[in-house]
Amino acid sequence: MPTAQEMSTTSPIGRKTPRVDGPQKVTGKAQYTSDFHFPEMLYAVPVEATIANGRVVKLDTDAAEKMPGVRAILHRQNIGKIFRSTLGEGMNGICIERRPPFEDDVIRYYGQYVALTVANTFENAKAAADAVLVTYAKDKPNVEDKLTADDDPDEVMTSYGPAKRLQSERGDAAGAFASAPVKLDQTYVTPAETHVPIELQGTTAMWDGDKLTIYEESQAVFNMRSVLAQMFGLPNENVRVITNFVGSGFGSKLWPWTHCPLAVAAARQVGKPVKLVLSRKMTFQSTGHRARTQQRVRLGATPEGKLVSLEHDYVYQRSILEEYHENCGEATAFHYRVPNLHVHFGRARRNVGTPSDMRGPGAVPGLYATESAMNELADQLKIDPVQLRILNEPKIDEGEGIPFSSRHYVECLQLGAEKFGWSRRNAEVGSMKQNGLTLGWGVAGAAWIATRDSAAANVELRDDGSARVACGAQDIGTGTYTILALLTADKSGVPVEKVEVVLGDTELPLGPVSGGSWATASVVPAVFAAADNAISSLLQVATTTPGSPFEKRKQDDLSFQNGRVFVEADGLGGGVPFADILKRANLRLVTGSGRSEGIFASKEKPKFSMHSFGCHFAEVTWQSEIARLRVNRVVTVIDAGRIINPLAGRNQIEGSVVMGIGMALLEHTTYDPQNGAPINGNLADYIVAVNADVPELEVHFLDYPDLELNAVGARGIGEIGLAGFAAAVTAAVHHATGVRVRELPVKIENLLV
Ligand code: MOS
Repeated sequence: MPTAQEMSTTSPIGRKTPRVDGPQKVTGKAQYTSDFHFPEMLYAVPVEATIANGRVVKLDTDAAEKMPGVRAILHRQNIGKIFRSTLGEGMNGICIERRPPFEDDVIRYYGQYVALTVANTFENAKAAADAVLVTYAKDKPNVEDKLTADDDPDEVMTSYGPAKRLQSERGDAAGAFASAPVKLDQTYVTPAETHVPIELQGTTAMWDGDKLTIYEESQAVFNMRSVLAQMFGLPNENVRVITNFVGSGFGSKLWPWTHCPLAVAAARQVGKPVKLVLSRKMTFQSTGHRARTQQRVRLGATPEGKLVSLEHDYVYQRSILEEYHENCGEATAFHYRVPNLHVHFGRARRNVGTPSDMRGPGAVPGLYATESAMNELADQLKIDPVQLRILNEPKIDEGEGIPFSSRHYVECLQLGAEKFGWSRRNAEVGSMKQNGLTLGWGVAGAAWIATRDSAAANVELRDDGSARVACGAQDIGTGTYTILALLTADKSGVPVEKVEVVLGDTELPLGPVSGGSWATASVVPAVFAAADNAISSLLQVATTTPGSPFEKRKQDDLSFQNGRVFVEADGLGGGVPFADILKRANLRLVTGSGRSEGIFASKEKPKFSMHSFGCHFAEVTWQSEIARLRVNRVVTVIDAGRIINPLAGRNQIEGSVVMGIGMALLEHTTYDPQNGAPINGNLADYIVAVNADVPELEVHFLDYPDLELNAVGARGIGEIGLAGFAAAVTAAVHHATGVRVRELPVKIENLLV
């Protein structure tokens, strides 16, 4: 083993590394899904329901069929057999909207697909789709904002399996609350939010006999394969899913949506490749959204600020057929020390497209509620909100009754307070001024699960001194290409720029989902094992090749480091580059494969509770004369294990904070009570934070390796930076204006009091 010092001087891990795929992207060489063209390819456009509740009575395609270039119009009568899919082992068979397209005539949400036109150009397909005449029997849709839990059983089925509605319980929360000297009882609301990745969703499907290939911008190609194989009655190996580049996803591209089987069915029917790319409007209707939530939080405390009880009862909106679980209680049971706790959820059916995972699903709306309650309790107690959190730091994960693998939440808070200048805070509302503006300061904590999915990889060392790493993971823009290059470079000694990375294809070794912030942690053990096996093969070549400087040495006497083979007893000085050994043996390459099993949802009870932690300090400015509110300054501290690439890592957290500004002040999907349509389903009316909304952002990583998770100690950083952020902003808004806003986003009209 190299010493820690040698590791630190030679390893690229922890070095700020620009994305290895950056040049391809900025020169336009990177091929995104809709960039692929194939001979004789046709274009498909779905016909969307214009009601949200009712039934198709008549579908008239006569005029559309006669339009120029039209090759087929698919509907319920002619689409052909499409099966349902079901959950498999591990991350397989996951599909949030299970209903196969056109399965029945019932319309359950606005924009549900009722037909599909296929034509020689996109324009002709779109014109034909507009000419399909649909007659509906219409009922009033229920898109009511106020959520009352439906009458569900104590255990419900969800998209990921069964879940108990009483999610976590210890002690007697209601009793402790009743007798608590200090009480807080508030309800917090988060709206439906929709993912707006710049790259639209789309599928290009083509058949070759009974073999299916699809190009799809997926966050999980292997799951996509398993679902489509089931839906078209094929063995897994007959389906290939390719995703080279993804223009982001935020969770909307994790699981297959109905347009995927539609494109596949169309290609089957016309016998040609078919491309189907959704419009922005469609992505507001039928590719998931963050469910609206309504969360009642009750805290009981002592006058000194010790929590005695925590009750978190939440209701979220679900669709009519599907049971996506918005797990707002994800962090509640472990985040603070509290002897009496009760976490419970209910669901309310609405005529909306099914909700799904969106960046930090569950924990993000959940922590907005619980961290807001902590801030309000701090004000009620007249205790500094940083101090209140430190006072309630738990020793172990009290929800699971197991220790944390690595938790440095208090240090996050302390470092954040220092960097932000929190000690200068005057707690009195409206008391802090700067350049004629009123300042508001707020803080909130963050947590997000750390885990691993199953993963496999293949590493090659080649005779020109280069290396290749292959893993069927995806890079959704977060930097997975670079992570794979860095891990391979670390093990092989090959410079990062000489590592070829291949990913995004089900023909490659099993890759993890690019979701849950798990991809990085998941690929570490697979890539390391693959590299070790390639090195072991190399050492065998070194000892068995005639004329090799190591001929007749025992393999055990040799070592490999920095790309060189050497006799361990002689040290690295006498080493020989691996390329020389391969050339002498007339080998183009040695190869090794590695695999590691996932631990997410493992049947074995975990020994450690693994999570990332963090906190945000936010400053807003308030100009009461013109009702102008801005986020003016943010300091974020993240404890997410060892950071493999601090450049992309910082970028991930900054991106989350930008999304957090949107969540706090701007984003909400509004459903029209008349027809159930998401009426702001476009980039002009669905407002997200843009450059002009974003101040200077300061990000700090604690960088403590979490070695329970993998040998590098790296967790994931895709989602943690959004958790808690909105609660820091609403606390700052209160500090500046005196107004408590408990329903996101904060609107100017909330503050005109
Ligand atoms: Mo994330 S919601 O797991 O893409």
